[in-house]
Amino acid sequence: MSKYKHEIVNYLYRNDEYLSGQHIAETLNCSRVTVKKVIDQLRKEGFEIESISNKGYKIAKIPTTWQEDIVNIELKDNLLLNRAIVQTQVDSTQILAKAHVNDTDNHFIVLSDEQTKGRGRFNREWSSLKSKGLWMSVVLRPDIPIQKMSTFNLFISLAIQEVIEQHYHIQCKIKWPNDIYIGNKKVCGFLTEMIADTDGVNAIICGIGINLNQTQEEFDKVNQSRATSLNIENGKPIEPYQFLSVLIKAIEQRYDQFLNLPFSEIKELYKSKSMIWNKTLTYTEGNKQIVGRAIDIQDNGFLTVISEDGDLHQFMSADIEI
Ligand code: BTN
Repeated sequence: MSKYKHEIVNYLYRNDEYLSGQHIAETLNCSRVTVKKVIDQLRKEGFEIESISNKGYKIAKIPTTWQEDIVNIELKDNLLLNRAIVQTQVDSTQILAKAHVNDTDNHFIVLSDEQTKGRGRFNREWSSLKSKGLWMSVVLRPDIPIQKMSTFNLFISLAIQEVIEQHYHIQCKIKWPNDIYIGNKKVCGFLTEMIADTDGVNAIICGIGINLNQTQEEFDKVNQSRATSLNIENGKPIEPYQFLSVLIKAIEQRYDQFLNLPFSEIKELYKSKSMIWNKTLTYTEGNKQIVGRAIDIQDNGFLTVISEDGDLHQFMSADIEI
């Protein structure tokens, strides 16, 4: 592919008006033939590019697959998460993120259109159909002791919850510690892994799966009747680049709070966005399983549950059946 592809995509995407082939060629110091060839290639890759004689070219629609150039433009103003590894297909973004974690000291994200071995918590399979959702791993580099990690998921779940509610106007709740639900259907799950030693945490690798554009039939086909997508809920296709852009901003903001504020500062907000109160549920952590009611969340992020016999139990990260 032409070495000018990157520059031509950038130039077209940043400009909202029609740009003539002549103008693009002169600005980027290439030939008009090159411009034309790149435009043809972009169309093959799924870009819809309008062309009007005497006016020029304009991007009308970007593909629903991830394009590295466009992802990087969307991320460029972020303070931390402004680099991305972009793939069309991977086993799991989590595996790829871990493989790259030592390449750099920077924060970065890994995105893929499709995962062949997407994994959830407890090693469960995570269905990751091509271009139907946001399959992403976020690599962060905090300078913190390991004990502080116990509240990380709470800040991140709030970031995801508020993007869905505030930007897409869909009511949703957090299911402590790692899920987001719309009604009684799951729309997002994430898992957090870390690389740490006795000096503290080296890297956090947070893998986030958000169902954006699946249809109900697609969920039914894979026996996921308890799952939903944002598209199903608000009846409109979700534009992935826009979603990514607002989500990354929200994650940066809540991550900054995670580093600088005690959880107690956001605890009441978190509790108000959480769905597990006033319900008798089954909590499983390792070999321990109890049926009980969540009554509070501690400043260290642990959940307090009162079991049917009146005993109090603290959970760090349970599997909750609802
Ligand atoms: C869960 O609900 O159990 C967590 C699901 C996490 C899925 C995401 S998708 C991106 C990243 N890559 C994976 O293999 N898993 C996470």
